[in-house]
This record gives sequence, structure tokens and C-alpha cells, in this order.
Amino acid sequence: MKIGYIVGSLSTSSINREVSLAVAGLAPDGVEFVELPYYRLPLYSRDYEADMPEAVLDWKAALDSVDGIIIVTPEYNRSIPGGLKNALDWASRPSRHNSLDRKPVAIAGAAPGAIGTAVAQQHLRTILAHLNAPTLAQPEVYLSFNRDTFPGGGVVANESTKAFLQRFVDAAVDHIALCTRDHATV
Ligand SMILES: Cc1cc2nc3c(=O)[nH]c(=O)nc-3n(C[C@H](O)[C@H](O)[C@H](O)COP(=O)(O)O)c2cc1C
Repeated sequence: MKIGYIVGSLSTSSINREVSLAVAGLAPDGVEFVELPYYRLPLYSRDYEADMPEAVLDWKAALDSVDGIIIVTPEYNRSIPGGLKNALDWASRPSRHNSLDRKPVAIAGAAPGAIGTAVAQQHLRTILAHLNAPTLAQPEVYLSFNRDTFPGGGVVANESTKAFLQRFVDAAVDHIALCTRDHATV
């Protein structure tokens, strides 16, 4: 199984990138994690659609190449970052070529504050429902980030957080397996 992970932050020192590395480090045997980078995408405009930019074609091909996706995102002003929204908008285009159609997705997020991206994740679920991407319902992962727990390099120093993230990764793998099995029988 190949799982693509999307980091919702463009920051080189992103705490959500740190969490993504931790999640990827918990992959069970037989599961490969790859990053799905979207940083070269232009800001969406219908004007591009007559002659799709190469960055868009690469992005859609990368989405097609994975069995499922884990999105690890910050919260910006009680929603998802604009760069991530732009990437999801491109994924949905052109009309009737939605790259996220029936693509299983699991969601996580980290913030320094107490609510740990909960509001952004609800917005993200709304977008993904519209795109017909089945999302893992539980566990919800709202991480209050601190350096004691995430010292760097994908290490999770707190055993209960590590066990919780392992449950999340295992549930995401089950969710993707279930959805892709259904694909095969439709
Ligand atoms: C434009 C902007 C808006 C933000 N809005 C929120 C917010 O609504 N809720 C929140 O918990 N943190 C908010 N933050 C703080 C982020 O959680 C914090 O910067 C975090 O480190 C971003 O994740 P990253 O390190 O992965 O980029 C905001 C930060 C920025 C730059």
C-alpha cells in the first residue's frame, strides 16, 4: 500500500511537517509513505484550464499514484491554509476529472494552542465530502504541539502520544484498505 501525505504548511520549520514525519515513521510493514508536494502549483484560475500547467499535471498524477492520503494541516484563522485549499481546488479540476473522487483520506493537525486545528479540520472534512473523498472518522487527531513530545527528526518522545498516533496510522491503513477493496468490487 502506498500512502501519500500532504503537509498543509509551506513553512520550512513547520510543526505539521514534523508530525507528518512522525506519522510516516509509524508505517506498518508493507506500507510506504511518500510526500505529495504541491508547492509549485499556480494560484487556481479557470484561465489555466485550456492548457494545464505541468505542475498541475504532476500534482494530479501524484494523487493518482497513491492508494490513499493523510493530510496533516495547520489551522489558519479557523480554517485550512490557502495553499492547501488551492491544491485541493486544482485536484478537483478540470470538471469530471476530480483526482480525489473516492480517494480515501485521513486527517491530522497540530497547533501550539489548545484546540489543535479542530476548526480547520471540520472545514477540511466539508471540502473532502464535496469532493467525494471518504474520510476516516476516528480517531480525530488534534495535537497540541510541544517540543518535549516532538523533539525533531520525526521522533515522538511521549509514549502515550506515540501510541495514539500509532492507532491513527493503523486506522488510516484499515480505512484505505477497505475503500480500495470496495473500488475493486464496484
Ligand atoms: C495566518 C495565520 C493564522 C493562524 N490562525 C490560527 C488559528 O486559527 N488557530 C490556531 O490554532 N493557530 C493559528 N495560527 C498559529 C499556527 O497554529 C502556528 O503558526 C503553527 O505553527 C502553524 O503550523 P506550521 O508550523 O505547521 O506552519 C495561525 C498562524 C498564522 C500564520
